[in-house]
Amino acid sequence: MTTVGVLHETAGRERRVALTPDGVTRLRRLGVRVLVETGAGRHAWFDDAGYAAAGAEIGARSQVYDESDVLLVVRPPDDIAALPAGRVLIGMLDPLGDPALAEALAAQGVTAISLDLLPRTLSRAQPMDALTSQANVAGYKAALLAAEAYGGFFPMLVTAAGTSRPAQVLVLGAGVAGLQAIATARRLGALVSGYDVREAAQADIASTGASVLRLAGAGQNGGDGYARGLAEEEAAAQLSALAAAIPRFDVVITTAKVPGGRAPLLVSEDALRAMRPGSVVLDLGGGNVAGSAADTRTVTEHGVTVIGAPNLSATVPVAASTAYGRNVVALVSTLMPEGRLHIDGADEVQAAVLVCRDGAVVHPRLREIEREIR
Ligand code: NAI
Repeated sequence: MTTVGVLHETAGRERRVALTPDGVTRLRRLGVRVLVETGAGRHAWFDDAGYAAAGAEIGARSQVYDESDVLLVVRPPDDIAALPAGRVLIGMLDPLGDPALAEALAAQGVTAISLDLLPRTLSRAQPMDALTSQANVAGYKAALLAAEAYGGFFPMLVTAAGTSRPAQVLVLGAGVAGLQAIATARRLGALVSGYDVREAAQADIASTGASVLRLAGAGQNGGDGYARGLAEEEAAAQLSALAAAIPRFDVVITTAKVPGGRAPLLVSEDALRAMRPGSVVLDLGGGNVAGSAADTRTVTEHGVTVIGAPNLSATVPVAASTAYGRNVVALVSTLMPEGRLHIDGADEVQAAVLVCRDGAVVHPRLREIEREIR
């Protein structure tokens, strides 16, 4: 019988767990034994008793390593050297952001599968789309966190003593996280505008009921549905156009990313300086805002609160773990077509997420990076 192990997350501030008791039930239906590390779900309020009631066994980390064929994580474990050869590690491993990790996993003789490499537009892959499920959670939390940091109301409130104006919120980057941030800020009653460099995103913003902020130079298309990195001149023009537009907003939430590249700078120091005291800027993209740093909240000398929050899905651990666990179960189901673990390198989805197999890096893009480094 195949054993699927669930590891406690080792990354700092990580509160998610790769599988919830609900996921245990689903995997048990596939005829799988599930072994959960003691306390793996405790930061997400899933206790060991809940896992046991769903049919899992609970064990120490070393037992999970020893007895599991498949190991589930959200983020890469910090004790890769303890991974026994032959195991299949599944997580959001970000191998393109950290190619050395792929090498280290290959050196352990591990087969590694990274959900962030999923070909998301294939309809068959969508139940496994962890990037989308986690971005959705992060976008929701971004709007809540920005509302909490803002000193005014998001909605217009009419009272006997007068009327408060609604907050003006601008969301930069209207992919999955940005659209969810827009929807959540609108539910809170703010007047919301959205901006994205991709042409297709303009209709997405409009469909939420938000206003579309249009700037000269917007309207590119990366071809594969993603934005491409802007050329230096385009980026400079965008930055100054945004600096002119931003000061009329009370709250700016930035979610812009470029796959395989650095998150673009969208809010410059000039823009921050021109904003009203009491304004809030939240950087979810990680690198979209001048001077922002991950997991910090600072106030500029002009009274603008800047929040660096690139890993917000970990702060909504119940919803994020539940969604992630479902993505993982969908993937594991495809790896066990006849009740036995079988990784099919010829399958389009499986080939796309396979980082290394039996001691060798196999992902084409990572092999290219390996060659470039040597
Ligand atoms: P992402 O996290 O890579 O980027 C977030 C947003 O930032 C994107 O909308 C991107 O256009 C925008 N951005 C990048 N550079 C920018 C700049 N300089 N200025 C302003 N905005 C900038 O994107 P995410 O959320 O992963 O989704 C991107 C696309 O992926 C979707 O629109 C869609 O085409 C595709 N996708 C498809 C899915 C499906 O078919 N089921 C599911 C999810 C995503």
